[in-house]
Amino acid sequence: QTNQQWGGRFSEPTDAFVARFTASVDFDKRLYRQDIQGSIAHAKMLAKVGVLTEQERDDILRGLEEILIEIERGQFEWSVALEDVHMNIEAALTKKIGIAGKKLHTGRSRNDQVATDVRLYVRDEIDVILDELSRLQFGLANLAQKEADTIMPGFTHLQTAQPVTFGHHLMAWYEALQRDFERFVDCRKRVNIMPLGAAALAGTTYPIDRHLTAELLGFERPAYNSLDAVSDRDFAIEFCSAASLLLTHLSRASEELVLWTSAQFNFVNVPDRFCTGSSIMPQKKNPDVPELVRGKSGRTNGNLIALLTLMKGQPLAYNKDNQEDKEPLFDSIDTVKGCLRAFADMVPALEPRREVMREAALRGFATATDLADYLVRKGVAFRDAHEIVGKSVAYGVSTSKDLSVMSLDELRQFSDKIDADVFDVLTLEGSVAARDHIGGTAPNQVRAATARALAELAQR
Ligand code: ARG
Repeated sequence: QTNQQWGGRFSEPTDAFVARFTASVDFDKRLYRQDIQGSIAHAKMLAKVGVLTEQERDDILRGLEEILIEIERGQFEWSVALEDVHMNIEAALTKKIGIAGKKLHTGRSRNDQVATDVRLYVRDEIDVILDELSRLQFGLANLAQKEADTIMPGFTHLQTAQPVTFGHHLMAWYEALQRDFERFVDCRKRVNIMPLGAAALAGTTYPIDRHLTAELLGFERPAYNSLDAVSDRDFAIEFCSAASLLLTHLSRASEELVLWTSAQFNFVNVPDRFCTGSSIMPQKKNPDVPELVRGKSGRTNGNLIALLTLMKGQPLAYNKDNQEDKEPLFDSIDTVKGCLRAFADMVPALEPRREVMREAALRGFATATDLADYLVRKGVAFRDAHEIVGKSVAYGVSTSKDLSVMSLDELRQFSDKIDADVFDVLTLEGSVAARDHIGGTAPNQVRAATARALAELAQR
């Protein structure tokens, strides 16, 4: 027996392997809610313009609502023979309500239907992601506020560079996530355009009202070109791109957490509930959560490249290739949600070891730039000051002394411009407090940054 929905022109049943090979129901059934939502709006519109009777519309709505409940209760029987989520639901509807079920597909095609479903799905998931991102940003801003005075070494080349505050470092993560937030908000605008009504590719001969369906589904507007509407997957690529960048940021933060939780750094403790042990080495407590997040960024990058490659050779309009858009897209959605949840739960629980970070900042001549700036204020040209401080650091390396513990006489070997007030700038507190401008690491500025962030978050 050939497929009921399109078998009319076929003279033999589909090969059993081909049926399985071309089916997508195993992964697109997760669109069931959006598929039903889209069908309800379509049926309402068809009734409004007189293509369906009110009775037919009511039967369709009732049938679809029952199907929704059956699916959510796990009572719906998905059939691979029915290929995809769309035909599974339509077949079930027809079985339930008879002839009216067969009329639902009037004036539409699976091509505009699937593009609509996926957009509705991505829109819903973006909203979940934005909430979860906000939760993570809130956790970061809160922790940063508490750690505005906590001093740690700042690094370049992973070598001690200048002292910063831990709060400042956390707010650096925050800023990257803020850009991610804005990217998802922006992506949502282009997701929220409705393909429905494009039908297979050229539009339809029925007197459809696309503005009405768009309004019923909460879309900004109908897509303006039917060929583009059914073949555009830019929104999925944009989503995967935003996901990739977000995971890049979470991966970098993860890398830092992995370093910081090592015995060699020991800057931060990640509570046991976010770690796991080793089956052979009894002493181990591994930072699995950040490591996994770092690893999962590989997935989102792969998914982005998969979608870009999927689209690049396709002529207009719909091609079956597009069925391959779903698994990478869904995987990126799941990955983003999982990683955000892990991070949003873990960040507020991080336990900074303030003394260890401070000790680390005292090693490595972190205040050398401050000494050079001090000499500049005393009239020395910056390049000369750089040279003078370089020599004092070399002396410190050979005598194992940080600048702040050298005596005034020792320091004066390198320049007679150095006076007793030098010790104000050689302290860690003096160093960070002096970087007191917008974007600087001074505790004041970190508090201002966290206040700004928390005020913005409160308005979301
Ligand atoms: N399952 C298909 C997809 O995911 C639905 C659209 C199929 N349309 C078609 N004419 N074969 O893209």
